[in-house]
Amino acid sequence: MDKELVLVIDFGGQYNQLVARRVRECNVYCEIYSYKTPLDKIKAMNPKGIILTGGPSSCYEEDAATCSPELFELGVPVLGLCYGAQLMSHVLGGKVERAANREYGKTDITLDTASALFGGASNAVNADILQSVPAKTTCWMSHFDYISKLAPGFKSVAHTDSTPVAAMENVERGLYGIQFHPEVLHTPEGSKMLFNFVRGICGCCGDWKMETFIEDTVKKIREQVGDKKVLLGLSGGVDSSVAAGLISRAIGKQLTCVFVDHGLLRKNEGDEVEAVFGEGGQFDLTFVRANVQERYYSKLAGVTEPESKRKIIGAEFIRVFEEESKKIGQVEFLAQGTIYPDVVESGLGGESAVIKSHHNVGGLPKDMGFIGLVEPLRDLFKDEVREVGLKLGIPEYLVFRQPFPGPGLGIRIIGEVTGEKVKIVQDADAIYREEVDKAIAEYKKANDGKAPSWMPNQYYAALTNMRSVGVMGDERTYDYAVALRAVKTIDFMTAEAAQIPFEVLQTVMSRIINEVRGVNRVFYDLTSKPPGTIEME
Ligand code: XMP
Repeated sequence: MDKELVLVIDFGGQYNQLVARRVRECNVYCEIYSYKTPLDKIKAMNPKGIILTGGPSSCYEEDAATCSPELFELGVPVLGLCYGAQLMSHVLGGKVERAANREYGKTDITLDTASALFGGASNAVNADILQSVPAKTTCWMSHFDYISKLAPGFKSVAHTDSTPVAAMENVERGLYGIQFHPEVLHTPEGSKMLFNFVRGICGCCGDWKMETFIEDTVKKIREQVGDKKVLLGLSGGVDSSVAAGLISRAIGKQLTCVFVDHGLLRKNEGDEVEAVFGEGGQFDLTFVRANVQERYYSKLAGVTEPESKRKIIGAEFIRVFEEESKKIGQVEFLAQGTIYPDVVESGLGGESAVIKSHHNVGGLPKDMGFIGLVEPLRDLFKDEVREVGLKLGIPEYLVFRQPFPGPGLGIRIIGEVTGEKVKIVQDADAIYREEVDKAIAEYKKANDGKAPSWMPNQYYAALTNMRSVGVMGDERTYDYAVALRAVKTIDFMTAEAAQIPFEVLQTVMSRIINEVRGVNRVFYDLTSKPPGTIEME
């Protein structure tokens, strides 16, 4: 089968998986490979285009991540992004230098709209589908180094106040470079630029669709598993539900789903999950609920370091699975709803640095009794997972449910986790979600079903590890502070604090203080991602 392929060559930047995500949004299949991948292997894959990503190095340093000049002679269009653009210049005879000041954040930019990257009808293969970008727009910059001299044959096609070469091209050789990050949402026209490259310049026809993904994955699972049994950790969240749907489509009753109630779930969630997936629910599954709350609290007693907490929660999860699997009989495979951002942020994808080890990927014990892992969503971003879920016929309310992390409230309680703190954060969180949901419903009712502009994609209450003095009635109090988080995001890789109306926050604050014992202060978290993460730990 001759599938169109674009290669994303990873030089270790934080946004690299987003480049792949945006390419797939153009219905073009792409894969990420390390910059260390040999040229022969790249040639053998016969890509229709190559994208060089950003990265932390300075290309003029001796041990910098680099590429062979021959990469630019394959007759395949190449687009360099940020470090990738600098490297292209450096390797092809231009000059890259350290700027006096770092250029970081949203930046005004002027584009040469005659460039095919920005929609100009040049000699692009598919000139008629190019998308126009306005000459003046904003972009997301993040660089110390800059291209001070273009390589021979290149011309600058964009500039900002402090960067003379914010984009460049050598049309004859099919080589393009962009100094900013078109892949992040902070560059509003960025998706169009990537579309113009992969569809317009590389000439990809856009034949990669979710239906194809489902067919391919079902086939792969059948090949991998054969007639063996699979155990899936079902949390009731989007990822594990969609994984369950895919795997059961592939192998039916060979799949058993185990729901671990680790005592770190939201208020009443354990019973809700059981009602949906358990006996009498809407799914045809073998459902097992393991009630291991106390076991978790004792494992977590005295542990305060976030990575240690995550590791303990993850490792215990696997142990519970092993125990449950033994009860079921011989089970060879463990299935997980790991998605692509989990993989990349755990430092397992290409060259990116470890940000945090995610529960799904971190710390698999060596002595686990399974012979392999089934992770059908490992290459997908969250919004792709939802699309697959809907295609599989999973109900919308499940597919669009706000995400809840595998380690649960364990990473929303800063510091040591105890049963008492879990109860506090569960109650505060239930009040917060109830009031936000009510405000959203009221707004929609008053506005013909339109959602409010502040509607968050994820919102929860966390328990800070801080206690402070307050006064209630005539009594001095010394209690915990709850932090309210609400973010707007599309891909969960970048996010901004949602502007929940102040009256709603005030109602939440007074209800939490009045109804939840042990809390005397409520904060609202304004931090975006980056620099914050969505979860607290
Ligand atoms: P962060 O905190 O990394 O979160 O900005 C991004 C998204 O991922 C979720 N998240 C997790 N999901 N296991 C999961 O299944 C985890 O360990 C984990 N940590 C974070 C988080 O809720 C948000 O939606």
